Parts: sequence; structure tokens; C-alpha cells
Amino acid sequence: MSPEIIEKEVNRRKTFAIIAHPDAGKTTLTEKLLLYGGAIQLAGAVKAKKEGKSATSDWMAMEKERGISITSAALQFEYKNHILNLLDTPGHEDFSEDTYRTLMAADTAVMVLDAGKGVEPQTIKLFRVCRDRGIPIITFINKMDRPTKDLYALLDEIEKVLGIKAVPDVWPLGTGFDFKGVYDLRDQQLYLFDRTPGGKQKAGFRMAGPNDTSLDDQFDEEIVKAFREQIDLVENGIGQVDKNSFLLGKETPVYFGSAVNNFGIELFLNKFLELAPGPDHIPLRDGNYLDPVNSPFSAFVFKVQANMNKAHRDRIAFLRICSGVFERGLNVNHNRLDKPVKLSSSFAFFGQDRNTVDLAYPGDIIGLVNPGTYKIGDVLSTGNTPPLRPLPSFAPELFATISCKDTLQLKSFKKGLDQLAEEGILHLFTSRTIGGGVPIIGAMGKLQFEVFQRRLKDEYGADTSIHILPYGISRWVKKEDRSKIPSNANLVEDLFGNMALLFDTEWDMNYFHKNNEGIELLDNPPLEE
Ligand code: G4P
Repeated sequence: MSPEIIEKEVNRRKTFAIIAHPDAGKTTLTEKLLLYGGAIQLAGAVKAKKEGKSATSDWMAMEKERGISITSAALQFEYKNHILNLLDTPGHEDFSEDTYRTLMAADTAVMVLDAGKGVEPQTIKLFRVCRDRGIPIITFINKMDRPTKDLYALLDEIEKVLGIKAVPDVWPLGTGFDFKGVYDLRDQQLYLFDRTPGGKQKAGFRMAGPNDTSLDDQFDEEIVKAFREQIDLVENGIGQVDKNSFLLGKETPVYFGSAVNNFGIELFLNKFLELAPGPDHIPLRDGNYLDPVNSPFSAFVFKVQANMNKAHRDRIAFLRICSGVFERGLNVNHNRLDKPVKLSSSFAFFGQDRNTVDLAYPGDIIGLVNPGTYKIGDVLSTGNTPPLRPLPSFAPELFATISCKDTLQLKSFKKGLDQLAEEGILHLFTSRTIGGGVPIIGAMGKLQFEVFQRRLKDEYGADTSIHILPYGISRWVKKEDRSKIPSNANLVEDLFGNMALLFDTEWDMNYFHKNNEGIELLDNPPLEE
């Protein structure tokens, strides 16, 4: 395929993820964005999915019971001749590792804040992952129809807590019940809203500026006065959005709106298309970015999911295409196995529905049927393996031994352990010193254990019991340090041969470190060069 065609496709793609603290409105915003793209006909379809109305597995029913989103999926939709790939990320903090990895497949992050709550804990964590990977962030301040914090205080909070300059690209006319519209600061156009059922947006009209007298005829004096003063402050005190600073991660453009009422979403989407970088933001280890057009095909696995659909009962590996063109049946080199593989069963997913993908471009996400060939972090390419930065992996903070209650279920228990650990929802370890040979699971939160046990039962028919271990902290160690590790240390090894040391408390870890200075204690598994 000619580079011109690839370039054209690259230029019309935007791959992004939405990050938010639970309840800020991520699901609602996703749904509204999909409506603009015509990807869903029915308002409430995403929500219905979240609430389990279309759930096909019991494990999804668990999401429903808990009101949380555990799975993450990639949805593709078209809007104004652009192809948007939206990576859905679980909001629950126990699933943060999965979310962090998914963010590695995004070129832009949309950070949704609740106008009444501001920057919440989960937002801070997710924000940091984006910043460390250099993903530009666009802020959407949601729930403007409800009582909000002071808007300047909100901008200030973003700057202070997250350490990024917050620059409004629009400004609201009124807040809470008086939220009447948003003013586009660069295009000087005011978009007014109508409170019709379904939240239709009334066409905006052009103003000569905030001093347009037609405003006085239409709205309360107080609202208009405050609006003019605020715009004056923003224009003179903060300035306009600078695309370059945004792309460099130095500033975040800020939008205001109400997802549930569909206020400000269309304008936000249009501005997103204008600002968000294309799929040319995959960083390499040397600090450069991969050229998506002139490099051979390359892609990495950022997610593995077993039993997406009980009817299919297969495992899917999700790939983010970084460069070149994917054609079904392509022969690629698998970097970890160091052998060629043929990519024949490729799918795109929309919730439970899957369609065969014959052709895909940089920025796109495809699912491959995975008979155990692909693991998170694998790189597939037709040329030399590009030196992509490794996906983040964290040191678990909660540990337990897990055993199967019924010996007749042992085989499926083992299969389930391996397949689910492959998904990376938790770490599976073995140890010579701890647990008497029983598998050890490690996670960031207790909910991960519950989901793990539930899925072992639902999907593999294995009843399990777990026994929580006293360790509260772990660190990875390099293979070459193994001989230096004292025999009484709590050493464990994961599925991929990575070794970690477990400690009861941070004090114990520091004590160990003081007495064993030659052993490096790492936050992430050591890189294989
Ligand atoms: P999440 O995915 O980030 O967890 O949030 P989600 O979209 O599920 O929204 C959380 C709640 O906030 C929902 O209410 C949703 O309707 C509401 N919401 C979202 N956007 C807005 C907004 O702009 N204004 C107001 N006032 N509310 C908003 P819920 O009661 O949990 O669910 P539902 O019964 O309304 O569906």
C-alpha cells in the first residue's frame, strides 16, 4: 500500500481514553460521544451495558452488582470523516494496572472532572500515568448543571494538584441551574442550550464579543455581568490555549459542559478533533517517536481477555497498531517467541459484538484470537522490532495463597489460573519458601481477588479458597541478584520468570535494603534488553 494512503488514514485517526474518578460521568460522556458518531442508536446503550442489561457472563453481572466497570474495551466510531478509537478504562482503583496499560495504547487522554468535586484521588493516579508516558490531556469539567466549585478555584486545583497549567478554551454562561451555554473563547461564539427532553443543543449564534447587547435582553443581569467579568479575567489573566504546550503536556485545555444533558459535548468533540494528536505519539526508548507511516507494520499487545463471550469461549489479545498497515493473514515476527506468526483471526469489538477486521491502520485496536500465543507487552512487526517503551507493571500490595476446594476441579483450576493471570488482572507467583508450593496471587486491591475467584468459578468451574498472607509490600529484583538473596527472604517468581521479594511493612523492606545494599529493589519488573 502506498505511503500516501497510509498517511491519509493516519491523519484522520484519533485514539484516546477517558480517565475519571468513578461517578464523574465517564460512561455518560462516552455514550454521548458515541451518539455523535452514530455508533449507537439508543441513548442509554453504554449505560445498559454497564448496568449489565446486556451482560452475557456472570462476571459481568458482578460489575452490575458493584456498579463498577471492570472490563475495558475499545470502541471505534466515525465523526466528521475522522476515525475515533475510544479505549474504555475501568474506573475502579483495584483495576488500576489494567487501566494503566490501556492508557499506553492511547494518544490522548480526556480527563473528566465533576465540577462539584474537582480533582479526586483516582484522577490523580491516572493523570500521573498519562503524564509519565507524555500523553496530552484534555480536561472536561462535567456536571455544570449542578452546584459547582468556584471555577477559578477549580482551575487552580488542577494546576496545584496535578502540576499542569489549566487553560479554558470555552467559558460557561452561568452555572448550576443557571447554566445557559458555553462561550468559545477562540472563535468568539456563544452556544446556548435548550432544556428539551433528551438535551438537544440549540444552534449557537455569533456575538461581537461578551459585550454583545443581545445578551442583556435574554438573560438575568447578574448572570451576564458575572460572565463578562469572568471572560475578562480569563482573557487577560490566563490567555488562550496553545496547541504546542498542550502536545508537550505543559497545559491542559479545559472545557465545561454537562454530559447527561448533552450540553457542550458537540463543541467539545469538535475542539478535540482540532487539538488531539494523531497516532504518531508512540514513544521509543530513546525518547523519539515511532513514524507510523514510513515504518513497517508494528503493534503491541496491551490487553489479554479470556472468555469475552461465553458463546465463543476464546481468549482475545488486544493490539494497538503503531505503524504500517494490518491486513488479515499478515505474517509477522513475534518478538518474545522470536518466530513468525500469521495474524488470521482478527476482530473489532463493540461490547459483545465482534466483526472480522481485514484492514487496519496505525491508531486502530484489533483483537486477535489468542490460543496462548500472545502476552501483554508482546510486539508484533514485519520489520525489526521497534524499541517501544515497556508497559507499566506494578509491585502488588496484597497477597494470598489460592487453592482449589475439589481435587476433581484441579485441571480446570490450573487452566483458569494461567489464563486469568495472563490477562494481568493480578500477578500469579510460586515460591519455594511461602505457602508450601500453593500458588500465590498478588494484587493492588481486594476486589481483584474477589473477581478472580468469581471468574474461576463461573468460567472454569473451579471452587477456590484463599488465605490472605501477611505481606503488604513487594519489590521486583533482577535475575543477576538472585545469588545474593538470603535464604530466609520471601522470594517469589511470577509466570514470566520475574522475581519479587515480599515484605510485611515498609519498615521491613527498608531494614532488608540496609542489610543487603547490593540487591536492587525495583518498582517495576526489570527490563529484558
Ligand atoms: P462514571 O462512568 O464516571 O462512573 O459515571 P457515570 O457516567 O455512570 O455517571 C455517574 C452519575 O452521574 C450518573 O447518575 C449520571 O447520570 C450522572 N451524570 C453524568 N453526567 C452528569 C451531568 O452532566 N449532570 C448531572 N447532574 N449528572 C450527571 P446515576 O444516578 O448514578 O445514574 P443514572 O440513574 O442517572 O443513570
